[in-house]
Amino acid sequence: LSAEGARLRESAIRRMGALMANAPDLISFAPGYPDESLFPWDAFREITARLLASEDGRAMQYGATRGYRPLVETCVELMRDRGIAADPADVVVTTGSQQGLDLIGRVLCDPGDVILMELPSYVGAISAFQNIGADLVGVPQEADGLDLEALDAVTRRLRADGRAVKALYTVPNFQNPTGLLVGLEKRRALLEWAARADVLIIEDDPYGALYFDDVTRPEETRAIAADADPADARVIYLSSFSKTLVPGLRTAWIAAPPPIAVKIELAKQSVDLCTSPFDQRVVHAACRDGVLARQLPVLRAAYREKRDVMATALESALGAAVRWTMPRGGFFLWVQLPDGLTGDALLARAHARGVIYVAGEPFFVDGRGQEFVRLAFSSASHDRIGEGIRRLAAAINEADRA
Ligand SMILES: Cc1ncc(COP(=O)(O)O)c(C=O)c1O
Repeated sequence: LSAEGARLRESAIRRMGALMANAPDLISFAPGYPDESLFPWDAFREITARLLASEDGRAMQYGATRGYRPLVETCVELMRDRGIAADPADVVVTTGSQQGLDLIGRVLCDPGDVILMELPSYVGAISAFQNIGADLVGVPQEADGLDLEALDAVTRRLRADGRAVKALYTVPNFQNPTGLLVGLEKRRALLEWAARADVLIIEDDPYGALYFDDVTRPEETRAIAADADPADARVIYLSSFSKTLVPGLRTAWIAAPPPIAVKIELAKQSVDLCTSPFDQRVVHAACRDGVLARQLPVLRAAYREKRDVMATALESALGAAVRWTMPRGGFFLWVQLPDGLTGDALLARAHARGVIYVAGEPFFVDGRGQEFVRLAFSSASHDRIGEGIRRLAAAINEADRA
């Protein structure tokens, strides 16, 4: 095995997926899966039937590595709606944002280069960047996002040690795993800091459209990329159709300054030649025909209700025994366990009672986070969320007595 091959480890979330497959009564708050009952089946049936009936060979042929041009233009329009002045030359369609993260890591980093990561951060980004040999250095977060003083101090220290600090990876909208929404002031300050420190920002935004309008105004999800000066080429932006349409079509995109986009395209050539042309056409048609636009308010309302069901269940089953912040959008509730209890230690008891989650530690690049668990409220039904929290509470109470 290569050093990289030897380093490869199964992700904590994927491992939970395997547990789920073997136990039908198991209630899973582990992977951040969207709710399948909300998938737009009728629209997909109609779009795919039309595509197949056309017998247009291009839908089943190899396609451009950059992506299906009409979909590239759709991505540009979606970004324009989010205030980002992108151009088709900036865009690369990717096979999920997960591939985007891998490609970005490959074109930016030599082994040992540093990527700054939020503490905690998305495990898929951690593994993608670690696999290419980047050194991940954590920066603590405050209630409104990264601690800027710490960010600056960490970067200065690394540079004083002669390290190449290439980029900062951030998920400003309803972060996976904390659900945190970075404040608008902080977004502007981050951009200014990045320009001053000459660090690229990798802005990963799969959840921005899934804000809960009881507590979040859409303006509060404004992309960092929206305020970036194109001449400064500071931000690489990623978004995905996984959470807003379906993850199974594996369609997402990157918008990067053109010299970086060209390299990402070349890196993608050797990875998969192109993202599935058929899937891209389905996604494009779903956007063109208004399916995505109709889905969004439905999803926002449905996930907001699920958040309420989980928060109410937690409150009544555990009260002050656990702490969490009410998510303002997205899929996740980030819970701090009672003193002395770790997410890992609790997992066996929780699993025995028929509920699983992801323990906090894999989200922290500095090895901390043992006292947290991530609960995804996105995929389970209301009844299952309530029952799952009762099972979790029983496991916590049992562990507390032990
Ligand atoms: C922050 C973040 N980035 C990227 C991804 C990967 O998404 P995709 O399905 O587009 O590969 C996820 C999926 O959970 C995510 O939460």
